[in-house]
Amino acid sequence: MQVKKIKIGKIETQNNVFFAPLAGFSDFAMRDICALSGAGLCFTEMVSCKGLKYTPDASSELLYKNPSEKITAVQIFGSDEEVMGEIARSEYIAPFDIIDINMGCPVPKIYTNGEGSALLADLKQASKIISSVKKSQKPVSVKIRIGLTEGNFVTEEFAKMAEDSGADMLTVHGRVRTAYYQGEVNYREIAKAKNAVSIPVIANGGIFTKEDADKMIEQTGADGVMVARGALENPLIFEEILGVKCGYSLKELISRQTDLLKQRYGAERSAIMFRKQAAYYLKGVEGGKKLKEKIFASSDINEVKNILLSVEGL
Ligand SMILES: Cc1cc2nc3c(=O)[nH]c(=O)nc-3n(C[C@H](O)[C@H](O)[C@H](O)COP(=O)(O)O)c2cc1C
Repeated sequence: MQVKKIKIGKIETQNNVFFAPLAGFSDFAMRDICALSGAGLCFTEMVSCKGLKYTPDASSELLYKNPSEKITAVQIFGSDEEVMGEIARSEYIAPFDIIDINMGCPVPKIYTNGEGSALLADLKQASKIISSVKKSQKPVSVKIRIGLTEGNFVTEEFAKMAEDSGADMLTVHGRVRTAYYQGEVNYREIAKAKNAVSIPVIANGGIFTKEDADKMIEQTGADGVMVARGALENPLIFEEILGVKCGYSLKELISRQTDLLKQRYGAERSAIMFRKQAAYYLKGVEGGKKLKEKIFASSDINEVKNILLSVEGL
């Protein structure tokens, strides 16, 4: 794929290979190592606007960012345009350069609240939310799916509405809500979004190798790609897609990630937080199941780190 800068409103990213928002994974340490590997933009995980308004202590830790992070994007979700606009203008969001709105989350708890992917079926409300968040004066992007159910696609109409409502960039995950994270990615629908608008369109879904990224751009004409689970398995995927050596090995990145977590959360809490991520690193590793059991039994991040650093295949 052709590497190029992306203009999101007044912000310009170094390249067009982005790291996705991933609940439970896209914390400051993961974003740090993905940026070191070359990711042009990293997003926080989704943060509830209602949560920030009514129970800020529970949600605000998700907004922690490391001083080393350059351009940063926060992802918010909600259903009420007033609350979302208020939060977008609040001190919580002020440190971020870009606001991304989640309009794709399939999880029932979110969907039944009229949040996330529910907005794919309510363009009027989605438009109100985008306009209201845009009043923050920050660049705004929107992350969507191609529809709720197979065959009932909203991509093109939604993309036009998002641009007309003030969005500066659109990310399209090429699956419907009911598919969750499985199955083929619909390149044709992503291409429809790209052809419908003049703001940058970023394509997402099923990118686990450089070849996947190349194919995604070739098939959709999108301006860039967003990698999610592929980066959890291998944060060096950004280096691979970009074709520029970052100067770090995977073990060096893991070491840095665990050290950053330990500094902020201490040895025990960070060990527990890091377990699910460690399991991703062990995917496909010989004897990985046993190592995973050891890691899940440990409450010391130093121990977890040493287990991973001693794996030959990593
Ligand atoms: C564990 C998990 C958590 C996720 N959390 C978020 C989230 O907070 N916000 C969001 O927009 N998408 C979220 N997603 C969706 C991803 O950002 C991405 O759209 C999806 O995984 C498809 O990309 P992939 O095939 O490269 O993994 C999540 C996905 C997974 C598997």
